[in-house]
Amino acid sequence: MKKRSLILTLSMLLAYVPFVEANSHEDGEHHHTALEDEMSAMNKAWRSIRRQIKDSSKNESTLALVAKVKKAAQESTKLTPIRAGDFSGDEKKKFMEGYQKAMKRTTGLISQLEAALESGDNAGAEEIVAKINDARKHGHEKYKPEDD
Ligand code: HEM
Repeated sequence: MKKRSLILTLSMLLAYVPFVEANSHEDGEHHHTALEDEMSAMNKAWRSIRRQIKDSSKNESTLALVAKVKKAAQESTKLTPIRAGDFSGDEKKKFMEGYQKAMKRTTGLISQLEAALESGDNAGAEEIVAKINDARKHGHEKYKPEDD
């Protein structure tokens, strides 16, 4: 009887182990940077914007999403990318100035996107979306860690 309950306890413990591991994996050791959090917020809204940019009946909702992206872009400008840690002195200054300039330019494009949507110019808005996608691509090539 004693042996049976020991086996039972052990098997219950073993069954529990994978869940414990799955949980600790989720909580993870990786600490998100404030910039990663802003970028993730931006990404979620950006995907929906791309999906519905052609549909003028959705402009009100698109504008609300654009406002989110703009806020996140403005916050991102104040933050420091992980890669800045690879540089020091003048190199670091140059890196940060380049990053801030690219982020400000992107924020400017986002304002243009807002204006196009407000005037119901969805074709123009689509072109600006393509420009923001380019800015994202170049921004990531230059300022985001390569393995990310
Ligand atoms: C619509 C435009 C953009 C979107 C949707 C976007 C999205 C993202 C996403 C999903 C990540 C990964 C976040 C994570 O690992 O949790 C990221 C990271 C990053 N992005 Fe963007 N991004 C955009 C524009 C830009 C621009 C214009 C720049 C630079 C001028 C930039 C610089 C970075 C950097 C530096 C990181 C790495 C985070 C860090 O170093 O802490 N992104 N972005």
